[in-house]
Amino acid sequence: MNGSPVLVSTRDELQTTLAMVSAHGDRVGFVPTMGALHEGHASLMRVARERAGIVVASVFVNPLQFGAGEDLDRYPRTLDLDLKVCEQEGVDIVFAPSVEEVYPSWPAQPSVTVEPGPLGTVLEGKVRPGHFRGVLTVVAKLFGLVRPDVAVFGQKDYQQLVLIRQLVADLCLPVEIVGAETLREPDGLALSSRNRYLDVDQRAEATVLHRALLRAQEAASYGAEAALDAARAELGAAPSVELDYLVVTAPDLGGLPAELEPGTEARMLVAARLGATRLIDNCALTLGRPLTLGGQS
Ligand code: PAF
Repeated sequence: MNGSPVLVSTRDELQTTLAMVSAHGDRVGFVPTMGALHEGHASLMRVARERAGIVVASVFVNPLQFGAGEDLDRYPRTLDLDLKVCEQEGVDIVFAPSVEEVYPSWPAQPSVTVEPGPLGTVLEGKVRPGHFRGVLTVVAKLFGLVRPDVAVFGQKDYQQLVLIRQLVADLCLPVEIVGAETLREPDGLALSSRNRYLDVDQRAEATVLHRALLRAQEAASYGAEAALDAARAELGAAPSVELDYLVVTAPDLGGLPAELEPGTEARMLVAARLGATRLIDNCALTLGRPLTLGGQS
């Protein structure tokens, strides 16, 4: 399809439009979003476009994934601008439902939800209890409505990506999950809809997260502890950045094995607060053998 995306806000409209556009048997690619779209989302749409003839994006600020006292009310809602981004990226259908359309019983909680299991209670899940239950519930619902062949999520929300892969595997959902590279500002800050909350000083300080990850990557050839120390040293130089967590773990977030072979692939994840704003970031690490006390590896 060419031109402006078709904007639909109800499940019925979505079904009718999908039936029309997918009549030719094209693969359907899906990019779920909460709106406030930026270049990072645009890149997800491009990845979906490479893999599918029809691209659907959803714009829905999902109340179920926000905890009490989080930024649900002030989360930016910019549908007109979002539609422009979708048009530029050649998205075919934008699904922008109301809360009641997705959760008919709202404000009563839905009675059936998707529990993320143990991985949903660590890292982001520990700081934001119930967050991943909300994410997985809405993603499962959106998959049921859009029935995509392929869905694209950013690697920036790394724990979310791992959990969505688990959701698809455990519930046997027939959708391929693609994790797309994190897009960054020229100074390294990962693109995020929440960056707009930062004031000028916080914005300048926020780059420390990326620098910490770079230091960790450099030090990783000396092992996980060396990578953590290097990242901590960098973060320590930015006193107004309040660290929530900094970990090195296996790429599936299952922890590191006790005995590591040189060349083991791992992931570093970091979360920190700048004033009222929480930022997260992560990177791949290739771990080498730690230095022993005598300096020999
Ligand atoms: O990553 C997001 O923007 C949201 O968590 C998602 C996947 C759209 C679910 O609301």
